[in-house]
Amino acid sequence: MRITVIGTGYLGAVHAACMADSGHEVLGVDVDPRKLAALSEGRPPFFEPGLPELLRRTVDAGSLRFTDSLQEAGEFGEVHFVCVGTPQQPGSYAADMKYVDAVVDGLAPHLRDGSLVVGKSTVPVGTAARLAGRIAELNPAVDAELAWNPEFLREGFAVQDTLRPDRLVVGVTSERADAMLREVYAPMLTAGCPYISTDLATAELVKVAANSFLATKISFVNAMAEVCDAAGGDVVTLADAIGHDTRIGRRFLSAGVGFGGGCLPKDIRAFMARAGELGVGEALSFLKAVDEVNMRRRQRTVDLARELVGGSFLGKNVAILGAAFKPDSDDVRDSPALNIAAAIQLQGGQVRVHDPEAIDNARAQFPTLDYALDIEKACERADLVLHLTEWTQYRELDAGRLLKVVREPVLIDGRNTLDMAAWRSAGWTVRALGRSQH
Ligand code: UGA
Repeated sequence: MRITVIGTGYLGAVHAACMADSGHEVLGVDVDPRKLAALSEGRPPFFEPGLPELLRRTVDAGSLRFTDSLQEAGEFGEVHFVCVGTPQQPGSYAADMKYVDAVVDGLAPHLRDGSLVVGKSTVPVGTAARLAGRIAELNPAVDAELAWNPEFLREGFAVQDTLRPDRLVVGVTSERADAMLREVYAPMLTAGCPYISTDLATAELVKVAANSFLATKISFVNAMAEVCDAAGGDVVTLADAIGHDTRIGRRFLSAGVGFGGGCLPKDIRAFMARAGELGVGEALSFLKAVDEVNMRRRQRTVDLARELVGGSFLGKNVAILGAAFKPDSDDVRDSPALNIAAAIQLQGGQVRVHDPEAIDNARAQFPTLDYALDIEKACERADLVLHLTEWTQYRELDAGRLLKVVREPVLIDGRNTLDMAAWRSAGWTVRALGRSQH
């Protein structure tokens, strides 16, 4: 099929390359000339494992190319995927719809008869119906439709999540739209991927419900960490123990500095805002607690750090391992690690941050923090080391060697992934939230 993918961020660039790899002819569309130049040469403008190879292969094969023209997209495509961002609005919990609206307004006049616009961006429920009306209003003569197909890919695993999704969810208003989407995803369906075809509102809600559930799971275990701290329990053992119950499951029960990124935090807030508009704000009031537990993790980490350096950060060197909101990503949007680093700096600490991939993005957001490309350099003369993003290379660190570099061998494991016993036997004092007995 001839497919366009509009918006080439973490979601769109991966989707475009995967669609091209699945046998479609794909045109990627973006307004950013820098991104377009990189992508046209087969280079992703961000870090995502597996994407460079896929992009190069599909661009070289001629099945994927890029443009900045929505007119060209409209004339080319049978199916148009809308993959632009829906960030949190400044001064509000609600999602900012300006990028999605601009794409639909720009594309609608150029749509061909029989074409299908498919929203993938995470949006407030009701958006799809509104946009379908907008297309009909802007181009009343065209026989085009709109569908919604939420995306569940995780950064760091985006390629495998797109090529082998655990489910496909589509919201459609006609059998024709459903048939077109089945054709788009034919390789996944042949491989046995579950396919859920529903109405527009349910499809939109599935996405925010899934992210809200994941956020709730993380905040649940972090709330248990708070209780463990008060009662003298160990949250990691607790999570392991309840996780053995298959009804609960161990995944997304890793306690630590909490969730960040461009999705979970803003999605739960936009969902609360939308529920309020729909008159069912009370139904989602628990998400406010989920958000509060999560944000408290950052504060508690700063408090523990201050306690460990003797009550004040003044004159103290603090090394931060990790800047990305999670490993295998260079995304620093709403990163707990960087928020904690900035708070310590604000309180007078000399902060130096290391990350294997996210330094450039981190520097752009927090230019006054100090950065190091080398772990030992970041830890040089440190009074405290904070492990805040669980990159594999931090797990493989030689604790004995690092001990010789720092001023005080004190470590906070903000992700509960380091081998505490090994660090302690190398001579370190190790602390973690929710693990007072360890
Ligand atoms: C999330 C969802 O997992 C995807 O399914 C969804 O498609 C995506 O949002 C989206 O809406 O686009 P992502 O933001 O890439 O994906 O990251 P996650 O893997 O969900 O992690 C989110 C945050 O939770 C990270 O900061 C991570 O460190 C944290 N986390 C995760 C924990 O603190 N504990 C855990 O047990 C798991």
